[in-house]
Amino acid sequence: MVPGCLKTSCGLPTLCLAVIAFLPVNVHVTAAQKPHILHVEVADAGWSDVGWNSPEFHTPYLDRLRGQGVALPHFYSQPIGTASRIALLTGRYPYTMGFKSFRGMYFRYSNFSLPLEYKLLPEYLLETGYNTHLSGTWDMGFCSEDYLPQRRGFETFYGSLKGFLNHYRHTPLATSGYDFWDGSEVDWTAQGKYSTTLFSDRAVNIVKEHSSRADDRPLYIFLSFDALHQPIEAPAEFIEKCRDIEDSDRKIRCAMMAAVDDGIDKVITAFTEAEYFDDLLVIFHSSSGGPFNAGSRNYPYRGKKASVYEGGTRVPAFLYGKMLSGATETGTSFVGLLHITDLFPTVLGAAGMPSSGLPNNLDGVDQWNQLTSGGQSARREMVYDVDISTGNGAVRKNKFKLVKFSEFASKKCQGYFDFPVEEGKEKKKSCKEYELYNLDTDPAEERDLSERKPTKLAQLKQQYEAAEARAVPHVVFVNATASFPENNDGVWQPYGCR
Ligand SMILES: *[C@@H]1O[C@H](CO)[C@@H](O)[C@H](O)[C@H]1NC(C)=O
Ligand SMILES: *[C@@H]1O[C@H](CO)[C@@H](O)[C@H](O)[C@H]1NC(C)=O
Repeated sequence: MVPGCLKTSCGLPTLCLAVIAFLPVNVHVTAAQKPHILHVEVADAGWSDVGWNSPEFHTPYLDRLRGQGVALPHFYSQPIGTASRIALLTGRYPYTMGFKSFRGMYFRYSNFSLPLEYKLLPEYLLETGYNTHLSGTWDMGFCSEDYLPQRRGFETFYGSLKGFLNHYRHTPLATSGYDFWDGSEVDWTAQGKYSTTLFSDRAVNIVKEHSSRADDRPLYIFLSFDALHQPIEAPAEFIEKCRDIEDSDRKIRCAMMAAVDDGIDKVITAFTEAEYFDDLLVIFHSSSGGPFNAGSRNYPYRGKKASVYEGGTRVPAFLYGKMLSGATETGTSFVGLLHITDLFPTVLGAAGMPSSGLPNNLDGVDQWNQLTSGGQSARREMVYDVDISTGNGAVRKNKFKLVKFSEFASKKCQGYFDFPVEEGKEKKKSCKEYELYNLDTDPAEERDLSERKPTKLAQLKQQYEAAEARAVPHVVFVNATASFPENNDGVWQPYGCR
């Protein structure tokens, strides 16, 4: 044990690094090439739903970690969480595989299940010698046992198969069916306990057990919180930390994020106590922008969850790890583009997997060298999303972004702004069929340049068409009646894909 690093108060990076520096012998000889990886995903945390972008929020631990790590101010997710997890775990744009970034596809009763033909990130990590765990929400389908996380690369799974869960009852929205699992067993002991705490505590136990059995495999823990997803619920102790916020929804949302912060503190303390901290890589990101209700804010960005505007896709994110370039006392920023698909090859790069082992047709770009050597982003362009059923989507090249609406001027246009009322700006603006933005000078997407820059517009339209040509029609989804709790003793269940 590293003396002085046993308490939560000492779980913070500076203090521990200072102590470790005085040790005469470096005990961390293993895993030099293969870091332990703590991969944290928070659901629906909008740009201003974290302490570093909104001082009224209370995330002191994450603030410090980010402050000594690498901020990712241009990290992009998919517009909704399930599509983001698909992108993350396959390294590919969901729309090229027939998956919408629209929640109706995955919602509530759908039989959608991420097809088995895709080999997922944890499967590669397992082959590379990692000990892999999922604590949190899966929400990518469970039509049969073969689709469950523990058959798809995660050695252990603890959490929920669906999304939009009540955080205490673990029942998806508007249903009373139970959905909390420990491996293949329904875990009734979780009933009445707050999911964020359960998921963090499980991650703590994973680290402790790994250390106590002297397992020399590096750890990969995917800690995928269902917070801050609605319904907004949090324990009183965290609501107390956010008592200064007047708006009651925002206060609870703040408390949900404070609970995440507290959980991460505990998990990293466990890594420190196990003397794994020097070799730890932390990845933190939100699954999408925030919704416009439930106390969320994407300010200063336009749009909300499920839209391709910046507010739906440009999300809070950072990395922490001593192996990263610029991860110092004062931290640094990786100012280039990083798309959620990039995490697939980048994590495998961190895991030391040769690029020859990567699957073909990846949309994700390996940025591990850029992140460790301080280079520029290896990515110049990206597809936010393309939805061929509605004709909506967006693409990006360097600083320019094209947003396309086929149903422009209709209600489907989600061109909402998220400005504070005090600024007196209009909340909603009608959309045009093609909008062009310079995100360097206009990150809030207030000034459409499509008429002023016809050449640029034409270039991006071409890029959009090329992206659209790769779209695959959406997979068919229907009600998965056989999974319904009323047919399974009150539990949502795999059902043989019937
Ligand atoms: C969902 O149902 C549709 C329609 O029957 C079917 O085409 C599709 O394959 C099903 N999906 C899964 C994962 O079973
Ligand atoms: C799916 O099932 C739910 C719950 O029984 C029901 O309300 C809904 O109408 C069904 N949808 C379809 C398309 O059958």
